[in-house]
Amino acid sequence: LRDLPIGVFDSGVGGLTVLGALQRQLPTEDFLYLGDTARLPYGTKTHDTVERYALQAVAALVQRGVKAVVVACNTASAAALPALALAFPQLPLLGVIEPGAAAAVAASRMGRIAVIGTEGTVRGAAYQLAIHRLNPAASVTAVAATLFVALAEEGWVSGPIAESIARRYLGPLFDAAGAAPDVLVLGCTHFPPLTAAIRNIIGADVTIVDSAATTAAALAAMMAPDKSRLVGNSGRSAGSVHFLVTDGVERFLRTGPGFLGQAIDVRDVERIDLAPLQ
Ligand code: DGL
Repeated sequence: LRDLPIGVFDSGVGGLTVLGALQRQLPTEDFLYLGDTARLPYGTKTHDTVERYALQAVAALVQRGVKAVVVACNTASAAALPALALAFPQLPLLGVIEPGAAAAVAASRMGRIAVIGTEGTVRGAAYQLAIHRLNPAASVTAVAATLFVALAEEGWVSGPIAESIARRYLGPLFDAAGAAPDVLVLGCTHFPPLTAAIRNIIGADVTIVDSAATTAAALAAMMAPDKSRLVGNSGRSAGSVHFLVTDGVERFLRTGPGFLGQAIDVRDVERIDLAPLQ
């Protein structure tokens, strides 16, 4: 088991920001990344659809053999983690919402936290619930920043267009004199590349929590107590990554490196179909 790869699942390319953080945190591990590019975006779809897609995707990873799965997509974490835990009770499973919420609560001095995510993530109130479990007194404002997803995929992550869209979403929240949040959670895989544009709008005093980095730390912490079973490939200098996509290998090769922060070799990418649920 310990030398099997860690499965990472996302609706498409955005989860590569999480994969990059996982590789930095666990450099000797192998990863099997599944991007459901045929059916992205998940962020505008209903809860039931996202749950069904996530069950199919994790079943495909389990069938190939993985020792744990990180649900790198915020929308899928928000909609599908309970159903995934029920369907795969033996599988160590981690989403991005709990680690992001914990980091936000730890970073907020005032207890005023803003979250940006997709429509599905915001509608499901998953961050609000996770934050309130840790700090019932926190005030949480969540905003769907739908256009950020397209901006990040287009690579328009800085400059006047990115900043005016960021101002439109975040200006009203952060202009509130005396009541502005002191923490902003980037509750979507696509948002870390937009950090500089967002920072220019919200100012230097707000702590930005990136759920990619916090999830990587949480996975390492989850694996550590079960070291002999889960921590693999000791003695190796670098692990490998294999990529599965449900559509558009070419587009994945074009847009993926911007999210991952490194080149992707065409020989490592495989197109697969996901089987319907039994
Ligand atoms: N991966 C999604 C998320 O983190 C963003 C892209 C999509 O909507 O599929 O919420």
